[in-house]
Amino acid sequence: MSKHYNRYTVTAALPYANGPLHIGHIAGAYLPADIYVRSLRQKGKDVAFICGSDEHGAAITIRAQKEGITPQDIIDKYNKQIGDTFEKFGISFDLFHRTSSPIHHETAQDFFKNLEEKGHFELNESEQYYDEEAKQFLADRYIMGTCPNCGNDSAYGDQCEKCGTSLSPTELIDPKSTITGATPTLKTTRHWYLPMNKHEDWVREWIVEGTLDGRPHHDPKEWKNSVMGQCKSWIDQGLQPRAMTRDLDWGVKVPVEGADGKVLYVWLDAPIGYISATKDWAAKEGKNWEDYWKKADTKLVHFIGKDNIVFHCIIFPIILKAHGDFILPDNVPANEFLNLEGAKLSTSRNWAVWLHEYLEDLPNREDELRYVLTSIAPENKDSEFTWKDYQERVNNELVAILGNFVNRAVVLTHKYFKGEVPVAGEFTEMEEGIIKEMKELPLRVEKLIEQYKFKEALIEAMKLARLGNKYLADTEPWKLFKQDPELVKTILNMALQIAGNLAITIDPFLPNTAKKIQNMLGMESLDWNQVGNPELITAYDRLAPAELLFSKVEDKTIEAQIEKLEKTKIAQQPVEPQKEETSFDDFQKMDIRVGTILEAEKVKKAKKLLKLTVDTGIDKRTIVSGIAEFFAPEDIIGKQVSVLVNLAPRKIRGVESQGMILMAEDKDGSLSFISPTGQLSEGSIIR
Ligand code: MF3
Ligand code: ZN
Repeated sequence: MSKHYNRYTVTAALPYANGPLHIGHIAGAYLPADIYVRSLRQKGKDVAFICGSDEHGAAITIRAQKEGITPQDIIDKYNKQIGDTFEKFGISFDLFHRTSSPIHHETAQDFFKNLEEKGHFELNESEQYYDEEAKQFLADRYIMGTCPNCGNDSAYGDQCEKCGTSLSPTELIDPKSTITGATPTLKTTRHWYLPMNKHEDWVREWIVEGTLDGRPHHDPKEWKNSVMGQCKSWIDQGLQPRAMTRDLDWGVKVPVEGADGKVLYVWLDAPIGYISATKDWAAKEGKNWEDYWKKADTKLVHFIGKDNIVFHCIIFPIILKAHGDFILPDNVPANEFLNLEGAKLSTSRNWAVWLHEYLEDLPNREDELRYVLTSIAPENKDSEFTWKDYQERVNNELVAILGNFVNRAVVLTHKYFKGEVPVAGEFTEMEEGIIKEMKELPLRVEKLIEQYKFKEALIEAMKLARLGNKYLADTEPWKLFKQDPELVKTILNMALQIAGNLAITIDPFLPNTAKKIQNMLGMESLDWNQVGNPELITAYDRLAPAELLFSKVEDKTIEAQIEKLEKTKIAQQPVEPQKEETSFDDFQKMDIRVGTILEAEKVKKAKKLLKLTVDTGIDKRTIVSGIAEFFAPEDIIGKQVSVLVNLAPRKIRGVESQGMILMAEDKDGSLSFISPTGQLSEGSIIR
């Protein structure tokens, strides 16, 4: 079934404004959404591409507590940073909004009131966990415990991130407050519940059969297996009533009487953020927002990561339908997760490639990351990013194939024809074959993008560059020019046509690169309706100077990134556990003094050892110390250090050592002296 749409509303999950973005974020939702939207725009479609930051919920307040600043400071900081990062990677939202905006509070409250008036909520009293110390109810991320499903001991009150099960706080084994660590008590409170059980029948029919109110709505076969699977398993377990309010002071206030100190559940307010953002955008653009949310000829698509499936496929649609007049998503192409160098991406463990750091460390390589992340996109199963793979894909594919082809076509045209597009002569079978492919290949790319198969679409698009490369390698115009310049004209004309068509085809994936090719070839636009045209680049037109599209990623660049991750790993290692108790008397037995290193030399045939002469105030003595790998003898002379002076002497490599220099060892094994902060007299007692 192929429905005709006149308009598209494309949303990408609103990221929490509680931290920077990493590669997993864009690989999961934003990059596929952007490719999809760019392709639509290229075809002249009417699109609203909507995103913004999710600024409510415990994710924000907990982060604020951690950083010791207000929630408002947190959301201001990260809304800005996240928005900037998206822009730099060319994620082309029509609007990047925020759920703290007044229009959103108003829209979300209207929604709540509408549903309340229509009787879609049930007001229920129940016992909920309460932190006596913090004087706060503990919902969602405010409570942690052991997952009853998989045994993960850091499951949240709403979800276990390890096995993906959705939970309620009372299901957690051994629950603890994440604010104080205290064991919570139970206390009665009132909340507005959405009785999802009452919606189960139509939800099943809508998702599984693809029919809504007895009419065909979408083709369920077009939904990803993983998305359909998760939805079915939810529905089969039986939908449960879910509280739509929370006892918190940060969020959208519940707009009814008797709801003091209560806010909307963040997963009620956030998706409504798509609508508020559309309103704001439409007002600025002189459009009608309702066209994008209420007309049956509008296609609504939500791009998200797999942890958001239930909210976008079940809860939000229930809310939209309960309100009435709203369209439901045609598809929710959720991606799986991206891993990094063998481990799960994790914000809390700092295991990530942060996008703002990437922009600094690998400047002007935004398209390269877009390329690699699309190539390895976790479309149907989890996938993995490694720096080595990144380097190989950039060097062997972008540099060697795409960049090389376009560069040769342009450089040769400059060399032989002073940059003037040559006129093509007669075509052989080879050119006829290329023209055919130039028409068909983009159509395959288009189809794949429509089916949300961006990874395959990119492979297909790259085939055009491969084709161009092969054509030049087979015809070798650089060898022909002397005997047959006319033939070279045909070849280079053809090569430029391929390059131009390539620019159009890769534009959704690599917008900067497409633009560069467009400029070099002097193309007016990258309109999709031009694609397949074998006379796209007009003869006698002049090319701009050749510009390199890509450069090799050097080994040292990659090594620096890998080292950065290694450091993170080390920093995350747990500290050594405390040793068993010792007595004050035992401690008193140790005589530790301030000493000054007078002489230092390497111990022969022992690469770790230095032989030191130390002024301990008591005497000048010899101490052998295992620090040679970290300190050069000449650098430590004159240094004041801590010396255990009454350690029994012992022979090390034939040298008698009379005491020990105290050292602190960092997690990575590096050593440093324990030195007084100012100069002290030798023999000062340390206790
Ligand atoms: N902030 C949520 C997350 O990062 C996503 C919210 S999507 C929306 O998981 F639909 F609620 F907006
Ligand atoms: Zn679990």
